[in-house]
Amino acid sequence: MTDLSSPEQVAAVVVAAGRGERLGAPDKVLAPLAGRPMLAWSLRALEHAQTVGSVVIVAAPHTQETIKRLVTGEGFAKVAAIVAGGERRQDSVAAGLAALPEGIAIVAIHDAARPLTGADLFDRCVQAAAETGAAIAAIPVADTLKRVTERVITGTVDRAGLWAAQTPQAFRLEVLRRAIAAFPGETVTDEARLCEAAGVAVAIVPASLANLKVTHPEDIAVADALLRAREEGQSPGVTRTNGRGRRMARRKPLTPLDGRGVGVRANPAIVRTGIRYDAHRFAPGRRLILGGVEILYDQGLIGHSDADVLLHAIADALLGAAALGDIGQHFPPSDERFRDADSRDLLREAVRLIREAGWEPANIDATVIAEAPRIAPHVALMRERIAVCLGIGPAMVGVKATTNEGMGAIGRGEGIAALATVTLVAVSPA
Ligand code: CTP
Ligand code: MG
Repeated sequence: MTDLSSPEQVAAVVVAAGRGERLGAPDKVLAPLAGRPMLAWSLRALEHAQTVGSVVIVAAPHTQETIKRLVTGEGFAKVAAIVAGGERRQDSVAAGLAALPEGIAIVAIHDAARPLTGADLFDRCVQAAAETGAAIAAIPVADTLKRVTERVITGTVDRAGLWAAQTPQAFRLEVLRRAIAAFPGETVTDEARLCEAAGVAVAIVPASLANLKVTHPEDIAVADALLRAREEGQSPGVTRTNGRGRRMARRKPLTPLDGRGVGVRANPAIVRTGIRYDAHRFAPGRRLILGGVEILYDQGLIGHSDADVLLHAIADALLGAAALGDIGQHFPPSDERFRDADSRDLLREAVRLIREAGWEPANIDATVIAEAPRIAPHVALMRERIAVCLGIGPAMVGVKATTNEGMGAIGRGEGIAALATVTLVAVSPA
């Protein structure tokens, strides 16, 4: 039996080279979920899986550079190789197996499309494969199953003994290689199928419905909500307790005035508005930061700071509403202190200045104008990040995006522009 105290004998192959056709997104595995690209969640779980020593990522050629940056940026130390995938899922698995480091005895195959897999499930599958030769995550089927022809039921399938297969699927490497060699032509949707056909017993490792595969558009919202709930240490529908079994008050829903400075009273009779347009050019080799969020893309915006065009527009609209000039005046580009500065610091400073002058933000509305990448999936996180900088609730921050319909420089994809308007109300001491 493989010595599981030596993770250098255990590798995971994460297949991420699909076309995402049912989701309608060729970059499915990079779709943002709870603020991170989908693939990052599996890689993070694998970093924490005690039995796994190395990881091979199989990616579509057009995503490889981005994935490389993700791995470096997040410091996923176990990633040993990123290789190109194949036409079918099993071809991608074969490419991953070919890139395994020397000395691997057990391999866990995992779909990047399952971002909710936890480190413990990887460990349980590897452990079971070490003991039995082949073991996969699966759940008993809960729904009543119907056989259907042309949308009419032709029969009910007895679900007793039926399980839905998931990943990870872990195997002793020689067992998997033997099973693959036995059925070279066959198209299959998982590796367990090959083992079954080769007469290898495959053990089941009971998993959870939450270990879902993101396949259709509606799965995104479910996976996102589950990941967010898990990150908050809370399962949806489960009452939060304070650790001593006491129920904790549910978080109050945000009201439009949440986050207002304590001890100040707004005088809505005195209102100011501010507006700003800003634009930055693209250049290769730069990170793309928008609204305080890093978006994985093959180029970024040029600027003295991190070139976050959206935060610049908002900061200037705030300063403009209070007639305090613009960020160029307060943070001159000639000042080396602001080279590659995090624009959230600039925004926080702009907010400090307007508050000092007796103003409080009542709302912000901003628009990003970009042909690519798609901004919509990042909007929720941008609103949160902007709201945090301003010390207000996200309900007071509007962010949306549009293209320029192919017209002009922005339409040709030469850069990104942003527009922001803000409303300020005068405050008086309580
Ligand atoms: N996969 C792969 N290479 C392929 C096909 C699929 O690496 N040629 C990977 C996918 O990236 C995904 C996993 O296998 O992580 C499961 O596949 P699926 O959920 O079907 O994803 P896609 O094939 O991308 O989606 P679709 O079938 O809708 O095109
Ligand atoms: Mg597929």
